[in-house]
Amino acid sequence: MNILLLGSGGREHAFAKQLSKSPLCEHLYIAPGNAGTALEGENVAIGATDFSQIKRFCLEKNIEMVVVGPEEPLVKGIFDFFLEEPELNHIAVIGPSQRGATLEGSKEFAKEFMQRHYIPTARYASFTKETLNEGLHFLEGMQAPYVLKADGLAAGKGVVILEDLQEAQAELKKMLLEEKFGSASQKVVIEEFLKGIELSCFVLTDGNTYQILPTAKDYKRIGEGDTGLNTGGMGAVSPVPFADATFMQKIEERIIKPTIEGLKKEQITYHGFIFIGLIKVEEDPYVIEYNVRMGDPETEVVLPRIQTDLVALLEATAKGELSKIKLSIDPKSATTVVVVSGGYPEDYQKGKVISGLNSESESIIFHAGTIQKGGNILSAGGRVLAVTSLDHNFKDALKKSYSQIKNIYFENMYYRKDIGSDL
Ligand code: AMP
Ligand code: GLY
Repeated sequence: MNILLLGSGGREHAFAKQLSKSPLCEHLYIAPGNAGTALEGENVAIGATDFSQIKRFCLEKNIEMVVVGPEEPLVKGIFDFFLEEPELNHIAVIGPSQRGATLEGSKEFAKEFMQRHYIPTARYASFTKETLNEGLHFLEGMQAPYVLKADGLAAGKGVVILEDLQEAQAELKKMLLEEKFGSASQKVVIEEFLKGIELSCFVLTDGNTYQILPTAKDYKRIGEGDTGLNTGGMGAVSPVPFADATFMQKIEERIIKPTIEGLKKEQITYHGFIFIGLIKVEEDPYVIEYNVRMGDPETEVVLPRIQTDLVALLEATAKGELSKIKLSIDPKSATTVVVVSGGYPEDYQKGKVISGLNSESESIIFHAGTIQKGGNILSAGGRVLAVTSLDHNFKDALKKSYSQIKNIYFENMYYRKDIGSDL
């Protein structure tokens, strides 16, 4: 079949690699893609949220499946768009309906969903401009640190954690009155701070049943020792060593099953990935957030471990036949180290020539922010590359990634040298 993949990051390069190697994939197109996805299929210059161009392209190229990388098209309702258009409704879209995507698009919706289905999460309350005073008062009744979350999508920046009550109150005012995160912070969720170690769990559902994909842990801060600003993710490890069978069973019983049952009970159509951000508090898992897509850079360690044909897996997801699939996972560990542009996550430099991408290696170099210009590959984003390796344990896998990065160069490149060192 012909497949259209939406997105342009390292996650999409990892998807493209896995989709294109399936014998079930005739032509793979990536919109808009990057210099790495161009090695796996054909890039097309269409934005991932340009629904009318996507429609035109799908009809022209006889696309039978659309795989959605980022959250934005999902939150904007791409699943429903395809379903409602008679010319398009034979095409499988991998993702949730717009209502399902609200699990990521609105923190309050996600919290209410968890509450309705008794899914463990931090206690919370939400406030708007009209209830600001109650919010300020609510903060006084909480203990530090204070966790404030913009309700809507804020490109991963909408969560603020503060130690000081006055600062937290000032922040709440900024979010609600000055719309610090635009319309995303017209509503703010304030929640209890949970102390523990984070991990992510990935689930694929056809709306009826589910398959649990490998776990991963990502490293969000720019600086070593988890310091400095938050980024999209600086590296990842899969599986998560502390997520043993007992803990995984708790996640499945307390979180995954009630989540899938909750979707069913509420008649929320969902044929895609659920990324559950978790925190392990003592021995118990709590949900921090739902995302309605795969993570980046988590995908770069999760997909390389999936040995089952990805197209067959996604086809079964779309058809409601996921229970027929026997998922095969590589027992090896995978690690990825993200190489970023100087200055990231603040203003960063682009257009730097990248060398060393063709060096012989056992690692996979996923492109994140790159473009091809003339004979060169240039940096074109904050996160530029994700270097993934597999080995019998994550430490050896990391050694391979770090040794591969030594061959790569662009001006002012940066990467964290301590990925996995907390595990
Ligand atoms: P989110 O965008 O909801 O994933 O939040 C971003 C980050 O904030 C998470 O990865 C956690 O590190 C942190 N965080 C969010 N909620 C909480 C909480 N209730 N307690 C502690 N840390 C949190
Ligand atoms: N790495 C976190 C995310 O994809 O949201």
